[in-house]
Amino acid sequence: MELEGKKIIVTGGGSGIAAGTVKGYVRAGAQVVFCDVNDEGGRATEEAANAQENVTGKATYIHCDITDKTAVQEFFAKAIELMGGLDVLANIAGVERNKPAEDFEKDDIDFVFGVNFNGTVWTNQEAYKYFKANGIEGAIINYASDTGLTGMPNGAIYASSKAAVLGWTRTIAMDWARESNVRCNCVNPAIKTPMYKYWLETADPAFVEAYKAGLKQQFPIDGDMGDVDRDLVPVMVFLASDGSRFINGQTICVNGGLIMVR
Ligand SMILES: NC(=O)c1ccc[n+]([C@@H]2O[C@H](COP(=O)([O-])OP(=O)(O)OC[C@H]3O[C@@H](n4cnc5c(N)ncnc54)[C@H](O)[C@@H]3O)[C@@H](O)[C@H]2O)c1
Repeated sequence: MELEGKKIIVTGGGSGIAAGTVKGYVRAGAQVVFCDVNDEGGRATEEAANAQENVTGKATYIHCDITDKTAVQEFFAKAIELMGGLDVLANIAGVERNKPAEDFEKDDIDFVFGVNFNGTVWTNQEAYKYFKANGIEGAIINYASDTGLTGMPNGAIYASSKAAVLGWTRTIAMDWARESNVRCNCVNPAIKTPMYKYWLETADPAFVEAYKAGLKQQFPIDGDMGDVDRDLVPVMVFLASDGSRFINGQTICVNGGLIMVR
């Protein structure tokens, strides 16, 4: 088992990419404690992860809103106590709110940045504090987006929040690796999930039409967005494993070639 004995915290496990990641980590033998604000989704993921056959890993769901710094501190303390340590943080929770750029209000910025950026900072800090205090050469996997590099029609605040996650991750990848050999990377996914459905419904309609018409151009592999279990979970297992210890500060696009980063 690739992750046998690893202790992993995942955020956003009630849906989509993080739900698939929790299940994949349990199949790979890891102990996983994960959070969400969607308790129904979180409990369903916990049940599905632990019901998988012949697995030695285990998933435990705990409610936590990652925008709340105190709640994040309490969640990490509980998770670390439950697992007896921490090796990896996969910070996947995220939100999107789309409208024409000229219409965004303070509430939209607070909502999107609160989860996507502030939540990244609060969770990353708690993981690092534990790694540093205990001499763990841990891994932090954050979730950004290609939109943070390219922009996105109707998604200016979302794209900006993901650009901020990229800047944060590159910076801590320097500071925390130098100080403690902790590695920090970002994943930019292009995967069919409930968030993708929301994007199809709310992005600029002309942009979505052009995008649908040119899917094979957009995605050289498959001509479509990817599948969580087939295309993303194996990458998440690798990034949590010791095999990825020399990969640091990178933006890893799991996107079928949608954009190519240099
Ligand atoms: N699906 C894609 O193709 C795609 C593309 C680019 C980036 N992303 C990023 O990947 C990540 C996962 O996206 P997804 O498509 O699985 O989305 P999703 O909407 O299916 O899942 C996101 C999860 O985060 C949880 N969440 C929201 N606010 C939270 C909070 N305050 N505290 C804790 N949990 C919270 C939600 O309840 C949900 O369960 C996100 O960060 C997203 O921005 C996804």
